[in-house]
Amino acid sequence: MNAHPGGSAHTQHMLEAAALPEGARILDLGAGAGEAVAMMRVRGYQAAGIDLMPRADFIRPGDLLHTDFESGSFDAVFSQCAFFVSGNAPQALREAHRLLKEAGLLLLSDVFFEPPAQMLQEAGFELILEEDLTSQWRDYYLEALWREDVLPCSLPGGKCRYSFVIGRKC
Ligand SMILES: C[S@@+](CC[C@H](N)C(=O)[O-])C[C@H]1O[C@@H](n2cnc3c(N)ncnc32)[C@H](O)[C@@H]1O
Repeated sequence: MNAHPGGSAHTQHMLEAAALPEGARILDLGAGAGEAVAMMRVRGYQAAGIDLMPRADFIRPGDLLHTDFESGSFDAVFSQCAFFVSGNAPQALREAHRLLKEAGLLLLSDVFFEPPAQMLQEAGFELILEEDLTSQWRDYYLEALWREDVLPCSLPGGKCRYSFVIGRKC
């Protein structure tokens, strides 16, 4: 099961919006069960994923706040619903920035408590796309409540929003 609003359709949308060239190297931070990594591989990308508690044998154990990959190793860094739950989204953004090649892309879908443009700028990114998915996230949250599931991105109401953003490393 996808642990993020919009499921695999939204993962596909993120990849289509970024329009990365075939063979691009992508790292999924907080990859969970690896659905997104598997989808990227089917699309011809060189994709890898890490997670504190991997739920697939092709996802490596690792902390997204401090990875052991060399700087500038990836064309894109991807993450869904993991930066916020890591407890330190600013550090997650800085680590994503370090991992990217020059002009590499960050594809991030997550809860934001500050304007995404500001958070990305502070970490060294230029915001090139933002889609506000807060209403979709609310539906996802309510559905999870109804099912009495664990709530992976669970913060009801408040002043936060749920957005898909693409940032370019500058
Ligand atoms: C809501 S789940 C999302 C999983 C996956 N991205 C998806 O959308 O299906 C959040 C994931 O972030 C992982 N995570 C949280 N903090 C992390 C950290 N510091 N380093 C690596 N993974 C982390 C959790 O283990 C969990 O798998």
